[in-house]
Amino acid sequence: MLKNDLLLRAANGQSVERVPVWLMRQAGRVLPEYRATRAKAANFIEFVKNPELAAEVTVQPVDILGVDAAIVFSDILVIPEAMGLPYQMIEAKGPWFEKTIKSAADIDALNIADANDLNYVMQALQKSKTALNNEVPLIGFCGAPWTILAYMVEGSGSKTFSKAKQFLYTQPDLAHRLLEKITLSSIQYLKGQIESGANLIQLFDSWAGVLSESHFYEFSLRYMEQICDAISPLVPVTIFAKDAHYALENISHTSCNTIGLDWTINPAKARALTGTKTLQGNADPCLLYANAETIVRETTAMLNAFGKDRYICNLGHGLYPDLPKENVKLFVETVKNFRYA
Ligand code: CP3
Repeated sequence: MLKNDLLLRAANGQSVERVPVWLMRQAGRVLPEYRATRAKAANFIEFVKNPELAAEVTVQPVDILGVDAAIVFSDILVIPEAMGLPYQMIEAKGPWFEKTIKSAADIDALNIADANDLNYVMQALQKSKTALNNEVPLIGFCGAPWTILAYMVEGSGSKTFSKAKQFLYTQPDLAHRLLEKITLSSIQYLKGQIESGANLIQLFDSWAGVLSESHFYEFSLRYMEQICDAISPLVPVTIFAKDAHYALENISHTSCNTIGLDWTINPAKARALTGTKTLQGNADPCLLYANAETIVRETTAMLNAFGKDRYICNLGHGLYPDLPKENVKLFVETVKNFRYA
């Protein structure tokens, strides 16, 4: 049994002695220890595919930052690769795919992936689980089907994802066929992650915010809902749909347990829209560039605004690589030391 299960209790709506805290991208370049481990691999993809190194950086933030959960070190782009679209991670630029999806034939050629195709992630989870020694829960994850489609069609990151959005407007039937394949792959992959030790699953819909509201429901939320229905009977599920707070009320009607919030909505508004769901978030990562007094003041105000129960503290998106490590630690300590009046 877990020694610290605050995250799982909060996700399940049970009461907690104090608010749990973890950070998106906590295993990342903010930590010099991460950069040292990463330097042992030839490149990002070799790093992700090396279960020993992946487990090492998964555990680092628990030891160094004192967070209440570990998230397995991997990437959402392992799914396109397992389905048949390999990617490269280009330094200072981000992901790049040599093949992209344009036609029905391209979609037919894709595999439906399962946990065996992603054995290196399963091994990373198992090794992380062993190293964590039941101290804190282990979070598994995958990208939301829409965000994965966005990379598969666009072929790289983009400010607008206009090629991917063009695909939705001009070939909606093909888009649904592709989303179904991604959804089936994701469900099998997540079930494997749970068998390999994941205690909670987060879906990252990083590009939800480029869609219109109706397209978000049609091309994104529907498929996240299918994943929640398959996974939430097994472990708690978090939906993090960035820049989509127009959709919070509808997200709260799915079987997810927790809703992740970016920093553009205040806690009271988010509570009013989401019924009894647990909320996670939502400090602006740039708060951690501020001085200590500002960090403590703003973090304390956020904790008071969300309240103790049904709340998991996090940032509104991932840590930026140049944030000062001491400030990240101060944020975590502020949350852990805070007690509600
Ligand atoms: O600590 C954690 O949060 C776990 C690890 C994790 C990574 N990527 C490691 C990573 C997680 C959960 C992800 C998810 C991910 N990957 C998302 C969804 C979350 C989000 O940020 O919205 C997305 C969109 C990706 C795709 C991706 N991976 C991009 C666009 C980039 C390049 C951007 C950058 O920061 O360089 C990556 C690379 C990546 N994935 C890094 C890390 C730590 C940085 C690579 C490095 O070490 O140089």
